[in-house]
Amino acid sequence: MSLRSPFGRRRGGVLAIRSFRRLWIATSLSSLGDWLSLLALTTLAYALTGKHSAAAGGLAVGGVWITSLLPSLLLGPLAGALADRLDRRMTLVFFDVVRAVLYLSIPLNLVVGFANQLTWMYIAQFLASCASLFWAPAKDASVPNLVEPEQLEQANQLSLMTTYGTAPVAALLFTVLAAITAGLARFVPYFGNPVSGRVSLALYLDAATFVISAVTVYSLREIARRQASEPISVPSVARAIWEGWRFAGQSRVVRGITVGMVGAFAAGGVVVGIGYGYIYTTLGGGPAGWGVVFAAIFVGLAAGMSFGLRVLGGFSRRRLFGLSIAIAAVPLALIALIPNLAVVAILVVVLGACAGIAYVTGYTIIGGEVDDETRGRTFAFLQSAIKVVMFAVIAVAPVLAAGFSAAIGAAVGSGSGAVHVGAISYGSVGYNIVVLLGAVVAMVLGLISYRLMDDRPGVPLIPDLLGALRGRPLPGPGAAAAGPSADGQHPPRGLLLAFEGGEGAGKSTQARLLAIWLRENGYDVLATHEPGATKVGMRLRALLLDTAHTGLSPWAEVLMYAADRAEHVTAVIRPALARGTIVVTDRYLDSSLAYQGAGRQLPLEEIREVNERATGGLVPDLTFLLDLPPAAGLNRRARSADRLEAEPQEFHDRVRAGFLRLASADPDRYLVLDAARDPGEISREIQAAVRERLPDPVPEQAEEITGTMPVIRE
Ligand code: TYD
Repeated sequence: MSLRSPFGRRRGGVLAIRSFRRLWIATSLSSLGDWLSLLALTTLAYALTGKHSAAAGGLAVGGVWITSLLPSLLLGPLAGALADRLDRRMTLVFFDVVRAVLYLSIPLNLVVGFANQLTWMYIAQFLASCASLFWAPAKDASVPNLVEPEQLEQANQLSLMTTYGTAPVAALLFTVLAAITAGLARFVPYFGNPVSGRVSLALYLDAATFVISAVTVYSLREIARRQASEPISVPSVARAIWEGWRFAGQSRVVRGITVGMVGAFAAGGVVVGIGYGYIYTTLGGGPAGWGVVFAAIFVGLAAGMSFGLRVLGGFSRRRLFGLSIAIAAVPLALIALIPNLAVVAILVVVLGACAGIAYVTGYTIIGGEVDDETRGRTFAFLQSAIKVVMFAVIAVAPVLAAGFSAAIGAAVGSGSGAVHVGAISYGSVGYNIVVLLGAVVAMVLGLISYRLMDDRPGVPLIPDLLGALRGRPLPGPGAAAAGPSADGQHPPRGLLLAFEGGEGAGKSTQARLLAIWLRENGYDVLATHEPGATKVGMRLRALLLDTAHTGLSPWAEVLMYAADRAEHVTAVIRPALARGTIVVTDRYLDSSLAYQGAGRQLPLEEIREVNERATGGLVPDLTFLLDLPPAAGLNRRARSADRLEAEPQEFHDRVRAGFLRLASADPDRYLVLDAARDPGEISREIQAAVRERLPDPVPEQAEEITGTMPVIRE
């Protein structure tokens, strides 16, 4: 399993393939066109309405975002399913042409007037967004037709980069076009028209990008004509959210990610929803200013994504996620308080960087800590939830801003909601209030997310952060909590996980599955067992389990198991823990307490004392008790009974009761599992419990720190 972030790979190799390069050019143009249309139409919406009032302008701009997002909310899953049914090449060409025609129709309507200008703009944008929605999955599905399987990942990353990387390009292009339009207006009166002239150039160019994209794709005969048609299954957004939450919501990590993400996208939605209005009314920027700020968001995002984790390599990912969202509240609040376009543009870069860091961190955490089976659903859940949150906030923010402006305007006697504080004047104060509210939401949810996911409780945050920046992270809390090791030092400590239970409960299977899962997730794992994990232990084991020794004195039995354990702890477990390894052991101390204590009816305290010597007081961080009625377990056995298995039913009943008593005496350190259930279900439960106690996955480039990975201890 890969823990890599999707942005850290070498690119360019797949572009050597001619057909893929063509598809990539089409993707770039198509994405560029999508972003350009957003910029042009938000500007147009304001131009059409803003002359009446700033509030109306803000609402009209919000409408553009809504019509752009609504299709994916309503039809997103359908689009994916349909992509597999239609001829992909023709789908791509068709939807490119559709978009070209739609975007051409908008400036045309401004001149000819075949429909209400604002209404037609919304209708066209809605339809064009539907077209984009069908275009994208057809493009994604075509990629495997053009590249070798091993290049697929690289190709997909490049597509992803292109989809978002074209946004700042579009923003700069838009800014340049605004300047050109202003220049042209001197000679051609049409371009001077504040409504139809202002954005027409951008829309013509927009239509052109789609036409070129269509022509490029048309020449791509390599794209498979038609896919074997499987039945279409169309899960709705609501269903993805509900199902995802059912599977993923049980994990503290996913809960933390969800809370933080809602905070981040609520704040993002505010910026998107009222950005244009704020820039226009308060910051005195026109289309060019909007283009600059729009580009600044993406510059910041890219910087955060590519440098964030590199600079903060040693810092806990789980801490970083919530923290970057809470910190984003600071530039956001300053944006609300300082109405100056240049300052705001710089603050937006910082804001974007925080968002970028949160994005890669969240992505890495899900990739590394959510297991394969539920990862797809978790992503689907988060993506659907993001859409809903963004959509709601973008819809509500302009209304809220208009409401605040009106209310405060009425209170201070300025109709437009203009407020002056000293030398600073806020053109329409509702915008500032809503941005501040967004900052508060980001701060609060970021902090809650931080608390939910903190994997280094007790380690002070500021020194931890400074240490990471200097490249010398503080040791984890486990280092202080662990007892002194043989050499008297306090090394970082791994995690000790024990499996216990009666005969045939499936301990060994579950221990093995857990070790595999942990390894797949990049952890250093040692799987071991008792009795018999050392050389001496193997001989003790042979003696202990040999049916020839029936009637072995109970205390001899206790001491021999303890001798095996002493050797196991000293030679195997402690050295591994000291390296930071996660140790998974099949049976440990509790087996002696249950078998020799409850089973043989020896005093528990005395067995504990002996074992205290053997283990030096080392207890598991977490014990999984696989509980099963003895009769069922003994029947599952494949081989003939060993000395203990041959004990009568009452003995095994006492052992089982003994285990259950141990577990109920210390519920924080035990997870009791009904071993009669489906093994897959059991291991998922085990993984969820372990995940909560895990440190960050090992960063891929840091091989040398793998062995000293700090691990939390309860
Ligand atoms: P093993 O074949 O390893 O058992 P299982 O597959 O059931 O885990 O045999 C270990 C036997 O030793 C098992 O019957 C339980 C017993 N035992 C004790 O009685 N006391 C102990 O301290 C330990 C570690 C095991």
